[in-house]
Formats: sequence, structure tokens, C-alpha cells
Amino acid sequence: MGVQSDHDEADSPVANTKAMLPALHALLIQVFSLLLCSAAVFILAAAFRFQPPLYVAVILQAGLAAGIACLRGMDWWWWCIQLLFPPAIVVFLAVGFPPSYFLFGFLFLLLLFWSTYRTQVPYYPSRASLFPFVRDLLPVGKAVQFIDIGSGLGGLVISLAKARRDAGFTGVEIAPLPWCISYLRAKLSRSNAHFLLQNYMELNLQSYDFVFAYLSPAAMPGLWQKAKSEMRAGAMLLSYEFVIPGAEPDLCINTGDNAPILYAWRI
Ligand SMILES: C[S@@+](CC[C@H](N)C(=O)[O-])C[C@H]1O[C@@H](n2cnc3c(N)ncnc32)[C@H](O)[C@@H]1O
Repeated sequence: MGVQSDHDEADSPVANTKAMLPALHALLIQVFSLLLCSAAVFILAAAFRFQPPLYVAVILQAGLAAGIACLRGMDWWWWCIQLLFPPAIVVFLAVGFPPSYFLFGFLFLLLLFWSTYRTQVPYYPSRASLFPFVRDLLPVGKAVQFIDIGSGLGGLVISLAKARRDAGFTGVEIAPLPWCISYLRAKLSRSNAHFLLQNYMELNLQSYDFVFAYLSPAAMPGLWQKAKSEMRAGAMLLSYEFVIPGAEPDLCINTGDNAPILYAWRI
């Protein structure tokens, strides 16, 4: 299996079209549903002197938002979020948690997920069963340079650095909390892995022999463009679980029962 031609699907303008960010799209739908339901409640009260109970208005708003999300072709989890969001607000307000809880919750989620609304890549760890398969791809006796783009808590990079003291291991992470944890883990375990707090899109991949990614389907076309323009010939791009549309991988490695596949493309 070879690397795809310059005209593969991943290169097509369609794959690279920037659609509206799903989080913004979902927010606009929810606001539209709120305005429509508020108008309906207002008209019912003014014209028929009928005030529907709050829970009816909330269910209407949630159902409307979920229906519009479905009609607009959003992924199914957005329908669920739209459906649950308005009742969740009412329930949380009714329970009467102190406002500081929301502030701390918000700050925690902000530091953990940071710009997920933009990158569409949230934090979730890869399985430890993956690590030996990645380690076995690294040639023995060669001081290769390896990078995990979106390194999360740093588990993969630290474990590889422990197994291969002769090679260079880097993790780059955009979200402050996972980066901080991986940085401290490396320091405390005296690992030679190092971690950068940065957007991998702003980092040149030219000096790496292996680029590992565990991102999301939304990130793959952009990553493929970047890898092809920056990575050296002979270097290897690895992706856990997610394929690149239209680019046939050179290797598909089964990493265990019910575990995601590890894909590899030789540049
Ligand atoms: C699915 S997690 C994978 C974590 C880790 N690689 C692992 O295997 O356990 C993806 C990580 O990529 C990070 N990320 C997403 N977009 C990024 C970007 N543009 N630059 C750097 N990190 C990014 C997220 O914050 C998240 O921690």
C-alpha cells in the first residue's frame, strides 16, 4: 500500500471547507428555540390568557432545539445535548447550588478542555495496551525523534521515553491542565520526555521521525495536509483510532480486543 496521490479525497476542497463550529451552531439553534418558545408563550398569554407551566415551555424549547439540530444534519450527540441543556439549567437553578460551584466547575472544564470548541478534539486518554505497539515501531539503535501531538496527560510519551532512553520524546498539548500534569509527571519521574504548551498546528513537524496523533475525525484532513507539507520523506505519521479520509494507510495494527486500530502512513 502506498501513500496516496496528490488528488486524494483528503486534499479535496470539500474536505477542507471550514463549516460553522458545531458549538456555535448548537448555541445559535438553542437561542433561536428560546426566542421562538418565548414568543409562543407571550402570544398565548396575551391573546388567550393562557400561561403554560414552565416545564412545558422548557420541554418545547428542548424538543425544538433537538429537532432543528437533527434537521441541520448535526451529529446525534448534539441532538442529545440540545435536548438535555434547557432542563439541566432549570434543575440546577432549582437545586440552588452556590454560584461558586459553577465558577469552579467552569474553570476546571476550561483548563481541561481549553479550545475544544474550536479544535473539536476533547481530552480522552489512549489505552495502555497501545504503548507496546508504538514502541515496537521505533527502530532499535537509532536515535529517533518522536512527538505526540495532543499529548494529554503524557502517558504515552513518558512510557516510551522510559523504554527508549536513546531517543527523543516530545509531547505538545494545547490545554493548560493536561500539559501541567504531564510536565510535572515528567519532572517527578526524571523522564527525558519534554512537553510543550502549544497548538501543534503552529509547530513544524519537519524534525520528527514519528508523529503520533490521537485526535478526532474533524482534525484528520488538516493534519494530513500539514504532515505532507512538513514531514520528511520516510517519516511516519501514526493515528490511533481515526483514519484520514481518502488516504490509504500503509499499516493497520490491531492493538487488542475491542481496542482501536493504530494506523500508520509512511510519508
Ligand atoms: C484524545 S486526547 C489524546 C491524549 C493523548 N495523546 C493520549 O493518547 O492519551 C487529544 C488531546 O489533544 C489535545 N489537542 C487538541 N487539539 C490540539 C492542538 N491543536 N494542539 C495541541 N493539542 C491539541 C487535546 O487538548 C487533548 O488533550
